[in-house]
Amino acid sequence: MSDLYFRQLLAGRDFGRAHPVAGQMQNFVYLVGDKATRECVVIDPAWAIEDLLAIVAADGMKLVAAFGTHYHPDHIGGSMMGFNVDGFVRLLEHNPVPLHIHKGDAEFVRKVTGLGIADLTLRDAGDKVAVGRVEIEWLHTPGHTPGSCCFRVGGALVAGDTLFLQGCGRTDLPGGDPEEMARTLGQRFSALPDDTIIFPGHNYGGPQAPLGRLRKDNPVFDPRVLQRMLG
Ligand SMILES: [Fe+2]
Repeated sequence: MSDLYFRQLLAGRDFGRAHPVAGQMQNFVYLVGDKATRECVVIDPAWAIEDLLAIVAADGMKLVAAFGTHYHPDHIGGSMMGFNVDGFVRLLEHNPVPLHIHKGDAEFVRKVTGLGIADLTLRDAGDKVAVGRVEIEWLHTPGHTPGSCCFRVGGALVAGDTLFLQGCGRTDLPGGDPEEMARTLGQRFSALPDDTIIFPGHNYGGPQAPLGRLRKDNPVFDPRVLQRMLG
């Protein structure tokens, strides 16, 4: 749709340039909304919240919510490897909006951010959230974490750490599950058409690609690799 507002922002390049670590992690943050109503959501706000809010303001948009693809602090902020990443908590201080997260990751979010469950808007598989006239669908894609989600916006899929252009999210961190990841990639993703454009959570191998190409090029779709994940 022509009124779709969709921005992909790379940490350390498009925002957070002054942050000492942001560039190393290669995180993508997304702004999605409706150019007609000027409303947008931020997906995976982390690293430099003031910069992200400045971009939203410079575009003449109003932030109405934040979505997390999953609980990891490089996506929603919190305590990570001995240091603290800005994210959901900083956003609440500067520009309070509802913080949406899949219910399967709520307890992990509480632990890494210190937020209470009451601070979160809990989402479930298949939920659809309207931002102006733009609809964002929550696809529950566990494996990287129990509550990992991908967001479908028209023909685009904001995939978080479920799928990169090269590889997929690791499954050895708390809540990770290789069998669930294999079911996500092998079964849950099978309903998505080849022309779905994947927008990943990290710049691992590139910023975007059609799913049909990844089904050929990304080894995680090799049936033997999926079989190994299933044990
Ligand atoms: Fe992650």
